[in-house]
Amino acid sequence: MVSLPDVRASNAQIPTALPKGLVAVFAGATSGIGEYTLKTFVKYAVEPRIYLFARNASSAERVIADCRQLNPQGEYVFVKVDLSLVKDTDRACEEVKSKEKLVNLAVLSAGELRLDRKPTPEGLNSFLAASTYTRVRIAQQLLPLLTAASKTTSLARVIDVGRGTKEGDIDLSDLAGFELSLMSLRGHLTSMHTLAFEALAQQAPSVSFIHEFPGAVNSNLHKGVPGLLGSLIYVMTTVTYWTLGRWLFVPTEECGERHVFLATSGRYKPKEGQAAGVPLIEGMTEGRGSDGQVGSGMYSLNWDCEGPGEEADKVLKGLRQKGVKEVLWNHFAEQFEKATKSSAT
Ligand SMILES: NC(=O)c1ccc[n+]([C@@H]2O[C@H](COP(=O)([O-])OP(=O)(O)OC[C@H]3O[C@@H](n4cnc5c(N)ncnc54)[C@H](OP(=O)(O)O)[C@@H]3O)[C@@H](O)[C@H]2O)c1
Repeated sequence: MVSLPDVRASNAQIPTALPKGLVAVFAGATSGIGEYTLKTFVKYAVEPRIYLFARNASSAERVIADCRQLNPQGEYVFVKVDLSLVKDTDRACEEVKSKEKLVNLAVLSAGELRLDRKPTPEGLNSFLAASTYTRVRIAQQLLPLLTAASKTTSLARVIDVGRGTKEGDIDLSDLAGFELSLMSLRGHLTSMHTLAFEALAQQAPSVSFIHEFPGAVNSNLHKGVPGLLGSLIYVMTTVTYWTLGRWLFVPTEECGERHVFLATSGRYKPKEGQAAGVPLIEGMTEGRGSDGQVGSGMYSLNWDCEGPGEEADKVLKGLRQKGVKEVLWNHFAEQFEKATKSSAT
């Protein structure tokens, strides 16, 4: 486990070790883990320029007002977007591309707890649309700008907030997961994220990628799930938080610090190039990538900033040997093509 004092010591280097004017895209930072991460990031970064991808203008304005208080020298741009739609996501990415030459950081945490699998207007599984497909899409669309950042600055990184280290088998007969039970979908989806970001790391070896599990964190995730089951989930999560939260939940302040550590520490450097983030603090070693190799550029991490155990390693190795990464990448490409060619506006 990376200790919280080590996390803080590493983050304290950000103002001096990283250049001023870092450009970051936060998708899903109007509440929860994204918001905690954004507010911690702007506390440390010097004159950052932040693009906040969000569908809710009033929530975005509230978060931006808080960020201005925390760092008045920062620039904050709200980009209105529904991240369950690929075409809208592409438009939001185009807005960033039209204004910036490089992007140093993308933090992807948008998603909803849904119990249905209805197709979106673009035909994608709504359960996966914002939490899986458009996260990969944002990283893919911003890859040229992230690569540009890796050539001239010391930071080029993508953070995917999901279920890193909890990888399970992938059902090749139902990649989109329309028919999978909630239990099967968990491991299936986790491996989809890890392998998709491994594929992106191969395409952009000078950028680093992290798929991580944040632990249990108090957020809006369990609020507003429709139906009786949704109410039950809400009540159970709230009761657990208020009774056992102190032992079971990662405090929100620690969550923000740990995510900023993931976003900037030299422990998670890319496979190639100079964009390694802030230097390792004394005694800290380089992280092990999701393929088991130290410093391989794509990391699957648990809430304590450490990599997966033997079980997940074995699952991922087996999937790679069966060529599932390539099959999966084709699946993402097909889904993006289906969505962008759909008549939905
Ligand atoms: N919290 C936990 O304990 C926990 C544990 C493990 C994994 N995770 C994962 O972490 C991620 C973030 O969760 P969280 O706890 O931070 O949840 P959260 O508080 O509900 O935040 C989710 C964010 O995603 C945004 N979002 C959702 N759908 C969107 C859409 N279609 N377009 C644009 N923005 C959209 C929400 O915006 P709005 O303000 O518009 O709703 C909100 O900003 C999720 O993928 C979750 O599965 C969370």
